[in-house]
Amino acid sequence: MIFTVAIDGPAAAGKGTISRAVAARFGFHHLDTGLLYRAVGALGGDPVAAARGLTAADLARDDLRSLAAGQAASRVAAIPEVRAALVEFQRRFARREGGAVLDGRDIGTVICPEAEVKLYVTASPEVRARRRWLEVGGDEARVLAEVRERDARDMGRAEAPLRPAAEAVVLDTSVLTAEEAVAEATRLVAARLAGG
Ligand code: CDP
Ligand code: CDP
Repeated sequence: MIFTVAIDGPAAAGKGTISRAVAARFGFHHLDTGLLYRAVGALGGDPVAAARGLTAADLARDDLRSLAAGQAASRVAAIPEVRAALVEFQRRFARREGGAVLDGRDIGTVICPEAEVKLYVTASPEVRARRRWLEVGGDEARVLAEVRERDARDMGRAEAPLRPAAEAVVLDTSVLTAEEAVAEATRLVAARLAGG
């Protein structure tokens, strides 16, 4: 069975939480596409060469989750040649036998516009900054400033800007628990699988 779930949205909206739960529930493969850009940013040097030569080992580095890695990712992610180098891998993953969930910024708009389910997960910047701060600690005001900066860069870039795909279901998780958000996403996927 070929079946793609595309999950896009800004930082700490809950994309990863929903993606992992949906993948586990339906037995789909899962790709966190942010990891590709985080790895390219963390490698340093020429980002285009890094994107073209990306290996599984690059994705397994344990320093990719930091705020700094997120910022570096969003800088290299604005470079069209970097994005182009990563397209084929993501498209092949999306059409893997057995179903796939991909989460990122441009899955429903660019990577897989034909996805069977498109979800745009969002929440207020304050709520998202609080969530990220609970994970990484430090100064909460600075986490909020970085969230806003990354939102602006991701939404404002010329190439594959962050925005909901035309037919995406928008899920605002500001006042939802993670369990409620997962339940809503699961319901949408189950309905589509049943032919809805
Ligand atoms: O992948 P993304 O950056 O969009 O977010 P995440 O890493 O899945 O979620 C960020 C944090 O928010 C996690 O600690 C979740 O438990 C929490 N959370 C959530 O994902 N959804 C809610 N509705 C409430 C909290
Ligand atoms: O988990 P969080 O939402 O904080 O970030 P991420 O999904 O790991 O993405 C890090 C950065 O990579 C984003 O801020 C985007 O600039 C970039 N990215 C992208 O441009 N396109 C994607 N499909 C995924 C991530």
